[in-house]
Amino acid sequence: MRKLCVVGSGYVGLVTGACFADLGNEVSLVDIDERKIEMLLAGNMPIYEPGLAELVQRNSAAQRMHFSTCYAEALENAEFVFICVGTPSGVDGEADLQYVRAAAQTIAETMRHPLIVINKSTVPVGTGDWTREIITSKQPQPIDFSVVSCPEFLREGSAIADFLQPDRTVLGSTDRAAAESVAELYTPVNAPVVITDLRTAEMIKYASNAFLATRISFINEISIICEQLGADVTEVARGMGFDKRIGPHFLEAGIGFGGSCFPKDVKALANMAQTHGMHPQLLNAVMEINAFQRRQITLKAREMLGGSVNGRTLAILGLAFKQNTDDTRESPSLTVARSLLNQGALVKAYDPVAMENASRDLPGIQLCQSPYDAADGSDALLVLTPWNEFKHLDMRRIHSSMAQAIVIDGRNMYNPAELRKLGFAYRGVGRGYNGEG
Ligand code: UDX
Repeated sequence: MRKLCVVGSGYVGLVTGACFADLGNEVSLVDIDERKIEMLLAGNMPIYEPGLAELVQRNSAAQRMHFSTCYAEALENAEFVFICVGTPSGVDGEADLQYVRAAAQTIAETMRHPLIVINKSTVPVGTGDWTREIITSKQPQPIDFSVVSCPEFLREGSAIADFLQPDRTVLGSTDRAAAESVAELYTPVNAPVVITDLRTAEMIKYASNAFLATRISFINEISIICEQLGADVTEVARGMGFDKRIGPHFLEAGIGFGGSCFPKDVKALANMAQTHGMHPQLLNAVMEINAFQRRQITLKAREMLGGSVNGRTLAILGLAFKQNTDDTRESPSLTVARSLLNQGALVKAYDPVAMENASRDLPGIQLCQSPYDAADGSDALLVLTPWNEFKHLDMRRIHSSMAQAIVIDGRNMYNPAELRKLGFAYRGVGRGYNGEG
């Protein structure tokens, strides 16, 4: 059993803390947000992530997980401290490092014994060196420490499985022994470990996310071409995916990528390139295609409703940026909803878990109790987040309750022929049909 401190109780911090505790370590989680710590102490979760509440409860009950707002308490006897704080986008897309800086400073001021400081937040290349300088300069007296970069690759919605069965663990440090100690912590997850220098580890994270975002923008661009040429992008992706050099993942055309990572990380990488005098053409195109893909949905709605959505009622199914999460940060669905509202539409919406978050961002939308409630009396139904529960809706019932039977399937969840047979006017994404998508 090792003693760990985790700074930050967001997705990354909570999942990292709970999983390390579950692997038998003692974890103290510290956050400056008293509200979050109070919630956790009371057994409640500040975020929704499948399986996380059970894991936290079980490990808290076993005294392997502790919560505090006090660094001194959380760092007591800890060998490792994981920095898992947010790095939001600044005004020009650069990562805003104020929370990382604050965490590093407080660690420096509070530490009383040697520590390995591990950064899990996605930070610009060079931040590891900068963290080392901050800690050195803020320590009241010199105490040994090492900085290790250990980028996080977990996906919201499957974060626990991603932690316990990762494809790889990346560790970067100038201190090989420190990186190897962290590698030991990860031994139970049994994944390949890449030990490298700090900057390379930081770049691996950006390059991985930017590559995945590029795949999505690539298939989205293909989807636009498919619509014009009468091909079906879902079959194109399937046909491509069997090629081992391509693989089947991250080739689903849709309404563009969202969430707290891809948009922010592609922007930050482009910003890093630009500030060093480069012109990141591909990254810029990835972002441009992503914005265009969101607009396509509104354009389709306008077209199918005779040129305008003004005064029409549109039902949106799905507000989270993807399924199995209540996260609406950078949700393409909210971009579509906002655009429809701005054009004078009445927007009714349903999401299994993200309605509270969505209504905070967009109070103008009318929240509904069920998909059927949303569809009732609407002029078009827009399916924008691929929740499982939307797969098997009673489409006959929906057809009979809508003012106009129009479905815009932003995630290609339905069989176009079946819906058309039921009498719907249907448009998916990149599913060419008589020149329609
Ligand atoms: C992502 C990375 O996958 C993860 O490794 C990193 O740590 C954080 O960023 P996450 O943001 O949770 O994780 O979501 P992910 O499942 O990767 O999806 C991102 C976005 O891309 C979602 O909006 C999703 O709907 C969209 N997407 C994904 C597509 O549009 N098509 C696809 O084929 C795959």
